[in-house]
Amino acid sequence: MAGKEIDAPTGIETTGHSWDGIKELNNPLPRWWLTVFYISIVWSFAYWIFMPSWPGISGHLKGTRNHSERANVERAVADLESMRADQMKRLLTVGSVSEIESDPDLQLFALTAGKSIFGDNCATCHGAGGQGNVGYPNLADDDWLWGGTLSDIQTTIHYGIRSDHPEARINQMMGYGETGALSGDQISDVVEHVMTISGRDADAAAAARGAEVFAVQCVSCHGPDGKGMKALGAPNLTDGIWLYGGERQDIQKSLYFGRSGVMPAWTGRLSEEQMTALAVYVHSLGGGE
Ligand code: HEC
Ligand code: HEC
Repeated sequence: MAGKEIDAPTGIETTGHSWDGIKELNNPLPRWWLTVFYISIVWSFAYWIFMPSWPGISGHLKGTRNHSERANVERAVADLESMRADQMKRLLTVGSVSEIESDPDLQLFALTAGKSIFGDNCATCHGAGGQGNVGYPNLADDDWLWGGTLSDIQTTIHYGIRSDHPEARINQMMGYGETGALSGDQISDVVEHVMTISGRDADAAAAARGAEVFAVQCVSCHGPDGKGMKALGAPNLTDGIWLYGGERQDIQKSLYFGRSGVMPAWTGRLSEEQMTALAVYVHSLGGGE
């Protein structure tokens, strides 16, 4: 290593370091850089005093301002929850949708809360927008099995349908083939009758025989004209809306085995407020009565 020397072209002293003949000049640090450097040292001391800084054995230095982003977030969440809790409580005291509708804030709150509760609990069966699936009714149309008023919907949500709740909505169509209550021919005939009353082409002679079976076996639930009965959860067979499919083989299967779809009861799983918000939301989906 060569010793320090003065670099001839610039007249500046070298550090004495030399790589492959290239020498390092010992330029002083720029003044602005040094200034910033010293300021940041002073700044860091101030920061240690006021703000959380060094890690220690039993937690980090908190600083005199005791600042914590986590605590800030927790406080914000708690504020939001207490705001929601007030709104949630108000839902309990409201008796009818019209009252909720007369309060746009509360209505918006119920719809938003209801939508998110629906997504968490109901969408698996009823679809994200309540549009339903085979075996799971569409909640966004105005066709209701058990009724589409706010109070009907509330009852359904509270107790479920064929659920294990003692107050569940229950009505069971038997499996007419499985139990032998009807012969295979009678079932085929009554299927033709259902095809007829739902406005499709059918074997007229079979449908006429089926109409007689229908009058004996089916009217108690589906009504004489097959339009269904909401008090019994018996679907309208004439409206072209099918829970289990409207093709011959679907109807045949409904009659042979029965269906008995189960909707769980939500009492005990969701709070009263949550169920009210849900009812308002479902009621708003388009087909509320
Ligand atoms: C495990 C699947 C399942 C889940 C989860 C479920 N449901 Fe249902 N739901 C059903 C079935 C099946 C029926 C139809 C039962 C029948 O045949 O009458 C039904 C019927 C309904 C009805 C009555 C529809 C009508 O036409 O009268 C409403 C209202 C309803 N569900 C709302 C909800 C809400 C709100 C939730 C979420 C809290 C929910 N359901 C969660 C399966 C489910
Ligand atoms: C005890 C009442 C009751 C009787 C009697 C009854 N049903 Fe039903 N039926 C229902 C209920 C409730 C449903 C809803 C499906 C379920 O069980 O989940 C239903 C569903 C159906 C369906 C399926 C509808 C769809 O949307 O997919 C058809 C078809 C049907 N019934 C036809 C008949 C015929 C035909 C008879 C007579 C042989 C009959 N039912 C007798 C109560 C009854």
